[in-house]
Amino acid sequence: MDLKTKFENFAEISRQAELGGGAERIEKQHQGGKKTARERIIQLLDPGTFQEIDKLVTHRATDFGIDKNKIPGDGVVAGYGYIHGRLVYVFAQDFTVFGGTLSRANADKIVKIQELAVKMGAPVIGLNDSGGARIQEGVESLAGYADIFYNNVMSSGVIPQISAILGPCAGGAVYSPALTDFIFMVDKTSHMFVTGPEVIKTVTHEDVSKEELGGAVTHSSRSGVAHFTGGNEEQTLMMVRELMSFIPSNNMDDPLVKQATDPIGRTDESLNNIIPVDPNKPYDMKDIIMKIIDDEHFLEVQPHYAENMIIGFARFGGRSVGIVANQPAHLAGVLDINSSIKAARFVRFCDAFNIPLVTLVDVPGFLPGTSQEFGGIIKHGAKLLYAFAEATVAKITIITRKAYGGAYDVMSSKHIGGDVNLAYPTAEIAVMGPEGAINILRRDITSAEEKAKAVDEYREKFANPYKAASLGYIDEIIYPKETRAKIIQALEMTRNKRKSNLPRKHGNIPL
Ligand code: HXC
Repeated sequence: MDLKTKFENFAEISRQAELGGGAERIEKQHQGGKKTARERIIQLLDPGTFQEIDKLVTHRATDFGIDKNKIPGDGVVAGYGYIHGRLVYVFAQDFTVFGGTLSRANADKIVKIQELAVKMGAPVIGLNDSGGARIQEGVESLAGYADIFYNNVMSSGVIPQISAILGPCAGGAVYSPALTDFIFMVDKTSHMFVTGPEVIKTVTHEDVSKEELGGAVTHSSRSGVAHFTGGNEEQTLMMVRELMSFIPSNNMDDPLVKQATDPIGRTDESLNNIIPVDPNKPYDMKDIIMKIIDDEHFLEVQPHYAENMIIGFARFGGRSVGIVANQPAHLAGVLDINSSIKAARFVRFCDAFNIPLVTLVDVPGFLPGTSQEFGGIIKHGAKLLYAFAEATVAKITIITRKAYGGAYDVMSSKHIGGDVNLAYPTAEIAVMGPEGAINILRRDITSAEEKAKAVDEYREKFANPYKAASLGYIDEIIYPKETRAKIIQALEMTRNKRKSNLPRKHGNIPL
């Protein structure tokens, strides 16, 4: 064979691999509002940076006549490239080839990517679009999944792992994403479930649509499985890029520092008027967040789930932080099961990846009631307490208004390792709110007038930051308008913080 023919052969094999399941299936994918695996990777990475690995791998199965059908690449496109100039590893399941299902060979490609990523200290981004375990491969496919899960677990806290769900993902195809740090979904075109509607109908006789069972709305607002939802694939992949700009490549690295254009000493008079005079009136904590961070750029995580707690990434003076904030505009900012779990996982991510925590507190306490108690608020609330206490990154806390009861302790208080704890003059720090306290302490009072007087007296005496400040539990009381400058000062002061917990195999967070 002459050289020309050899090169032509190679070009043809390569073309076949790039065609995946063929023009017809690609067309079907496009008609469903979905891109192919390769198109997605190109969209995700910096232009021209994708390097493919294992393009010509094929499966080795023989049952059900599958040996007659071999497609180079075998249903997953894998390799590496760059996002914002930083190395990332990526794999994209190709739904046009055997429904993007996982074969042994296909799993080996993903495992290779995972192992390279840990070795090189770079994130793994998985673009998922798969019918789960490839039925024809039986236990070999299950073994492949288990290898991927194992690597997910071993990489957790070492490199960031991101999952985008870009089609129907069933069975094993949802468990690897569940083990990763952040899950992105696309409205209407992506679904996640352990077992699909048909199996559910057979087993439990429930009638449920694919969308209701595992669509983006379900997982971003009801189950809390998804962290981000895009309106379409392009937007979703852009959101992945945005997230990458806030986080480091690995646990020994720091996030990218962005050139700050927003003045670091900027004050904002309007902040002085955000907290209502009436302590029972709500206000939107996001108004405060937007006024203090760089350029109003806030990447909120899980915005539609447990809305009484706000979490997300922002920058101060160009440096990434994780923001954790009670939201008084939703359920008065109370701590409940879902908000505790939501914030705890976020705090642990930030701590694992050297991202300082800025906590804004306005919390009336834990939500009372049988549904919370029966649901285990004791252990779930303890998760957040545990996560904050264990975190060794810089912890800056600002109490804007209420900090009552156990929730005061939990929300990154001085006592569990807060480095800089500030409060507004409007802060109320006490065991409980005035009404509750008087109901317990002054059962002797019967007249409404006398009770109102006692409540006022209690408020005067306890519902302020001065007792806590006199004990050094609050480092400084600040005017709201100077919040940004104070946070930036605190972040600068804590930049070289050195703190580690005692060596141990691992702690035992109340799961
Ligand atoms: C082999 C599969 C497959 C599978 C789909 N295909 N799932 N091939 N193994 N698991 C093939 C189809 O035969 C079809 O091939 C092509 O992929 C596209 O599938 P369609 O059904 O035509 O597409 P669609 O209508 O969009 O439905 C997609 C789907 C559905 C929702 C994913 O295919 C489905 O429910 N599949 C089964 C999902 C599942 O139960 N997986 C196993 C889970 S168990 P052709 O040639 O016709 O194009 C599991 C164990 C791991 O994952 C557990 C670890 C903890």
